[in-house]
Amino acid sequence: MNGPNSVSLTRFLIEEQRAKGKIGADLRLLIEVVARACKTISIAVGKGALGGVLGEAGTGNVQGEAQKKLDVLSNDILLEANEWGGHLAGLASEEMDHPHAIPHHFPKGGYLLVFDPLDGSSNIDVNVSIGTIFSVLRCPEGMTGTEDEAFQQPGTTQVAAGYCVYGPSTTLVLTVGDGTHAFTLDREVGSFLLTGKNLQIPPDTKEFAINMSNARFWEAPVKRYIDELVAGKEGPRGKDFNMRWVGSMVADVHRIVTRGGVFMYPIDAKTMDKGGRLRLLYEANPMSFIVEQAGGAATTGRQRIVEVKPSKLHQRVPVILGSRNEVERVTGYHREG
Ligand code: AHG
Ligand code: MN
Ligand code: MN
Repeated sequence: MNGPNSVSLTRFLIEEQRAKGKIGADLRLLIEVVARACKTISIAVGKGALGGVLGEAGTGNVQGEAQKKLDVLSNDILLEANEWGGHLAGLASEEMDHPHAIPHHFPKGGYLLVFDPLDGSSNIDVNVSIGTIFSVLRCPEGMTGTEDEAFQQPGTTQVAAGYCVYGPSTTLVLTVGDGTHAFTLDREVGSFLLTGKNLQIPPDTKEFAINMSNARFWEAPVKRYIDELVAGKEGPRGKDFNMRWVGSMVADVHRIVTRGGVFMYPIDAKTMDKGGRLRLLYEANPMSFIVEQAGGAATTGRQRIVEVKPSKLHQRVPVILGSRNEVERVTGYHREG
């Protein structure tokens, strides 16, 4: 509950800066601005049909996906909130073909922000949890922050990552490389309050999340693993598993960060030519950083996700993440072929 001892996001970040020198004033400001933008998005999401925010925008993004009104609105909110602060060299997002330059009349900083402004677009109009995902990188020396290449860094270089889930409550989950922490939005006060310090994903689980309608397209190791889970008590695993699939990565990962589980969007025959379904820089990498900082694991099946060297801004990648022992088992099946 909110009270005299509650720790706001601002206080948490200042104390993190003071005690551990983990983050500088610039990064703190940047995270706070992103959090403020998420609050604005949360308000728009909360109004639903009353706010005129549901439905199609009538446009498409670079990946050939139809944009929803909220995809466009959330992207604009994040751009507007972040371009004047002086801490960024550039911004990139799912909804923009190339990075967005900081307008000339604003000062520039040394960080890059890359985001999925609205994750789970197919759930917007049906009032199911959706979210925002973001990742913070340093702008490499000699680059301006407007080049695609500036953002094409492996996930190990992330200095911060987070997501905000717009569900029954609005929750921001954040890492600056010092554990994974959750903050719940106090809607009356308007601030994010620390509600989960050092989240830990249990290494074992009985819950999995995968789009089962793709089963016929999966590769053999994924098929083998899921078949074993579905076989339950009578199968080789000797225990029953349950399935949960929201269809918003933010919501599915949030469940896993909260109580464990394994989330999979593997490569399959349908997505083989694209390299997978989910995007590396603004979906897979930030989520992998958050999950690893909570004691979980994240892999493509063949490589730790954060070690993948990106070659494209909107690169896609297979994703298997969550409870460590399950992720290791699937990885083992990939090794065996
Ligand atoms: P986005 O709404 O940002 O395009 O991302 C949607 C992603 C992710 O949230 C989810 O796990 C996945 O797409 C679901 O896709 P399918 O319905 O095609 O399985
Ligand atoms: Mn997404
Ligand atoms: Mn999106």
